Amino acid sequence: MKTKLANQHQHTGEIVVLTGAGISAESGLKTFRDSDGLWEGYNIEDVATPEAWQRNPALVQDFYNQRRKSVLEAQPNVAHYALARLEEKYKVTIITQNIDDLHERAGSTNVVHLHGIITRSQSSRNARLTYPIKGWELRMDEVCELGSPLRPHVVWFGEMVPMIETAAQICSTADLFILVGTSLAVYPASGLINYVPDEVPKYIVDPKIPTVYNVDNLTKIEAKASIGVPELVDELMKVDAEL
Ligand code: APR
Repeated sequence: MKTKLANQHQHTGEIVVLTGAGISAESGLKTFRDSDGLWEGYNIEDVATPEAWQRNPALVQDFYNQRRKSVLEAQPNVAHYALARLEEKYKVTIITQNIDDLHERAGSTNVVHLHGIITRSQSSRNARLTYPIKGWELRMDEVCELGSPLRPHVVWFGEMVPMIETAAQICSTADLFILVGTSLAVYPASGLINYVPDEVPKYIVDPKIPTVYNVDNLTKIEAKASIGVPELVDELMKVDAEL
């Protein structure tokens, strides 16, 4: 696969990668909207909204405890490791919609979690108070220093995305942009592509290229992440780019 990068963008500075659930699918973590997706088994309104937390915190806690157990049992896959390898040659920022820590465990050192991270908890009274969770279970009797119950440090539907401005700024200075494994179904994450300058090369890796968004000017790699991402990274590692 020859990417057009080889002749167009010799001096690549920062590579920005926006990932979604698809990059963790081959690590055994369910995506949200594929046929057997996570939202198949649950109503978002019952487990992933502030109202759900008010109504039945134990159900919400249990949903994320089960998900945390799966995350801790999962391993990064070759796509996560390939993105980490990019850092040997480029400045790389990974903006992920995923709440798993597989990018970090694969060795990526610059990861922005738009929707939070499941391995941390936060005060249900002050979102800025966050704590590491030891093991898979966050119990209902665990409280923050203010005495409020601890909830998962994830962004629920209807809540603000605190990192979105930071992410938009990062996208606006990207020299190369890669989308991996996202249906682009959820705003504001899906709108980040609009901050990437037109002239910047853009790639998308997905076995089912999303149609919800105008992806005409993206180089499409219709493949699973475990195939498409290492191939693209190999190409990028060959390009004779100044650091
Ligand atoms: N490799 C690459 N992509 C894959 C693979 C794979 N092996 N398997 C599935 N995909 C793709 C699907 O084709 C789809 O485009 O991953 C994407 C998964 O889309 P979603 O399930 O909608 O996940 P995502 O885009 O991350 O959802 C965004 O929605 O529910 C919220 O907060 C949640 O962060 C999530 C957000």
